[in-house]
Amino acid sequence: MLMQASSLPLKPFRRGKVRDVYEVDADRLLLVATDRVSAFDVVMDETIPRKGAVLTQITAWWLRQLEDKVKHHMLSANTAEIVREVPQLREHEQELEGRAMLCRRTTVFPVECVVRGYLSGSAWKEYRERGTLAGEALGKGLRESDRLDPPIFSPATKADEGHDENITVDRMRTLIGDSWAGELERLSREIYEAGRAIAARRGIIIADTKFEFGRARSTGGQGVEKVILVDEVLTPDSSRFWPADSYEPGHGQPSFDKQPLRDYLDAEKRAGRWDGNYPPPRLPKDVIEATSERYLDIFRRLTGHSLDPNGSH
Ligand SMILES: Nc1ncnc2c1ncn2[C@@H]1O[C@H](COP(=O)(O)OP(=O)(O)OP(=O)(O)O)[C@@H](O)[C@H]1O
Ligand SMILES: [Mg+2]
Repeated sequence: MLMQASSLPLKPFRRGKVRDVYEVDADRLLLVATDRVSAFDVVMDETIPRKGAVLTQITAWWLRQLEDKVKHHMLSANTAEIVREVPQLREHEQELEGRAMLCRRTTVFPVECVVRGYLSGSAWKEYRERGTLAGEALGKGLRESDRLDPPIFSPATKADEGHDENITVDRMRTLIGDSWAGELERLSREIYEAGRAIAARRGIIIADTKFEFGRARSTGGQGVEKVILVDEVLTPDSSRFWPADSYEPGHGQPSFDKQPLRDYLDAEKRAGRWDGNYPPPRLPKDVIEATSERYLDIFRRLTGHSLDPNGSH
């Protein structure tokens, strides 16, 4: 079932470009990945079949892979189980299938933890203009899309509207304190390195990614606060995924997930039919289908099996 926007009998917490978040109670949130898609920061009017379920189940899969490295917020990504836990959702079970994640609610650190293993996007732009990344000098002679070893940790602040602002690690320390900052950087690097190695064996380059962390007291509200990995994790929406077989530094790489969409939109721009702002052009059926196929393909490659039509993993 396609979903453009959800309307659930729970208190809305936040609506992002792609995800709708609800409060379940004081301790839990429900994250719902819709089938919305954005490109060049504009949300399209059409939906991409299966995209929401793919995104949620990719996060669920990664969290299970990473369980021994980091505490995470997932309570369940199995819709039947979620509906048993939250009976108000009973009438919405079908539309939620595969796309909902019941999560432990945390206090999110106001910093996006970006890790870059390849030089691309805004990082390439900064390096080309100033020879720096996140304000710090980087070796000379790097080309666009070059691999970075070790990866670079380049935090950003979470801006409510528009673009996030890159900040230095020093600024991050000032914002959240030295000890949290150190722990978030260590965890981000460790998770990214583990993730990039796993993905590489499956023909996918994770060029860069963004993590969010929260903190919460251990169950019962007693004891010290622990760092918890939250939000979506190593998905094509929070990361740059490149096909490894066509990787070639020296220029930009195609995007594994959104390239059919980007190509179409670029052509519309060049033809003078779209100025790059909302409203976007209407997407033809073949572009929608090709994009849906890309998401399903990424899921298959990563996990080694097809997305269960019932979404129940
Ligand atoms: N366990 C959690 N506890 C508290 N907040 C959480 C948790 N997990 C995720 N969040 C928050 O939920 C929100 C997810 O919505 P967000 O606006 O990022 O949606 P999105 O579809 O990714 O949109 P955008 O493209 O604008 O980022 C974020 O603000 C994130 O910090
Ligand atoms: Mg987000």
